[in-house]
Amino acid sequence: MTTVMEQPAAEVGAVKSFTATLIIRRFDPETDAEPRWQDFDVEVYATDRILDALHKIKWEQDGTLTFRRSCAHGICGSDAMRINGRNRLACKTLIKDLDITQPIYIEAIKGLPLEKDLIVDMEPFFESFRSVNPFLMASTAPEKGKERVQSVAERERFDDTTKCILCAACTSSCPVFWTDGQYFGPAAIVNAHRFIFDSRDEGSQVRLDILNDKEGVWRCRTTFNCSEACPRGIQVTQAIAEVKQAILRGKP
Ligand code: SF4
Ligand code: F3S
Ligand code: FES
Repeated sequence: MTTVMEQPAAEVGAVKSFTATLIIRRFDPETDAEPRWQDFDVEVYATDRILDALHKIKWEQDGTLTFRRSCAHGICGSDAMRINGRNRLACKTLIKDLDITQPIYIEAIKGLPLEKDLIVDMEPFFESFRSVNPFLMASTAPEKGKERVQSVAERERFDDTTKCILCAACTSSCPVFWTDGQYFGPAAIVNAHRFIFDSRDEGSQVRLDILNDKEGVWRCRTTFNCSEACPRGIQVTQAIAEVKQAILRGKP
């Protein structure tokens, strides 16, 4: 009897590779005055991710192609980019989920300074993140050997916003942020939300005061681009609305 394991790959082979065209917006600050688009034909499988295709191009065709990635599994948040006009993580975007009859357009996320090819300067993004005090603020330490007690319901209150991986897909898809780089942006508000509604935290009012600023939550126009862009499925616009309500109430 012939088992599947014993068959040659071609006989088993339901999976076929094909040539996809990736059109990538390139920019080298040392040689280019402006970004330019460059086509690459690359052999891929439908189940490959965009990150796999970028690696193939870099390893086999053009070693100068520059992009960030680390975990390759949707955890580190380093490979957000615009794929066919939408912010996505390259490591979470399967080629079969795109229209493979058409070229795939890839460019850096918008609204942050372009450094090289698919890499932007993330410092303005992290500056906003840091400015909302994204850490537990408490005046007392827990009793030795004890934890800070929290009920299941209290923990659920901010569960959604704990999922953020700081990829910037939300902030760099926000039209307000594109026109006003001073706006804190949705990711900073999400990370403020994570602590504002944490029953163990004592710094909520400080954060609400920071976000009750002309560049704070009131700049949000409820466009929902951020919620649609978030690879973690966080209800970003809802979180922003909850922070607005907390400011109006004067408490979380
Ligand atoms: Fe990324 Fe979502 Fe966090 Fe925004 S809220 S930085 S899109 S994980
Ligand atoms: Fe921008 Fe999201 Fe508000 S896209 S306008 S922060 S709902
Ligand atoms: Fe880490 Fe994609 S490489 S999230």
